[in-house]
Amino acid sequence: MDAKATEATRKRYDRIAPLYDLMEGLAERARFARWRQLLWSRVEGTKILEIGAGTGKNFPYYPENAELTAIDFSEKMLERARRKAKARQVKVRLIQMDAQKLGFPENTFDSVAATFVFCSVPDPVRGLLEIKRVLKPGGKVVLLEHVLSENRFVAGLMNLLNPIMVRMMANINRKTVDNVTAAGLSVEKVTRLGHIFRLIEARKK
Ligand SMILES: C[S@@+](CC[C@H](N)C(=O)[O-])C[C@H]1O[C@@H](n2cnc3c(N)ncnc32)[C@H](O)[C@@H]1O
Repeated sequence: MDAKATEATRKRYDRIAPLYDLMEGLAERARFARWRQLLWSRVEGTKILEIGAGTGKNFPYYPENAELTAIDFSEKMLERARRKAKARQVKVRLIQMDAQKLGFPENTFDSVAATFVFCSVPDPVRGLLEIKRVLKPGGKVVLLEHVLSENRFVAGLMNLLNPIMVRMMANINRKTVDNVTAAGLSVEKVTRLGHIFRLIEARKK
């Protein structure tokens, strides 16, 4: 795990935090809200972990009667999530934690969910291995992610622009479906949501 890259990413999100909801506002109304709803409809069980909760954009979609824990390594993003949770009376345990080094015992959660997170986790396979560790056997992972385009020309452009985009916010050339498999999770379904967005459903066998 690259401590320097992790710290740089964490600080980047601390800086972005005051603008995050504003920056994502248009996309949220156009598409993301619908996709979040879809993701949370696929989550199973009652003990659920959200990775990289950010400012709490998934709060409106959390299943009722579930025991939610949400982590993020950016204290500034979490501050906003805490305020939202208090104002909207969302029942969630919010913890500052690195996805690459989860502080939960193995076999803890029925499901783990994340939206737009594995584009910025410095070592995504490490993070996915941690998810596998804390999932109960048979537990489910549901991810909403943008990935590298399957079109060779667009993929070339995304690879070219990635060094700039990663400094601004996140990587745009991640192969997250492959990373899920590399972590030893069993991919059950990949739903194509537009050109580069995917809903990935996987399981710990
Ligand atoms: C693009 S934002 C997405 C936030 C939220 N999930 C959403 O859908 O709006 C990425 C989030 O992942 C968090 N994140 C990135 N790498 C992380 C890591 N290694 N550990 C914990 N959180 C991380 C960032 O702090 C940020 O809040």
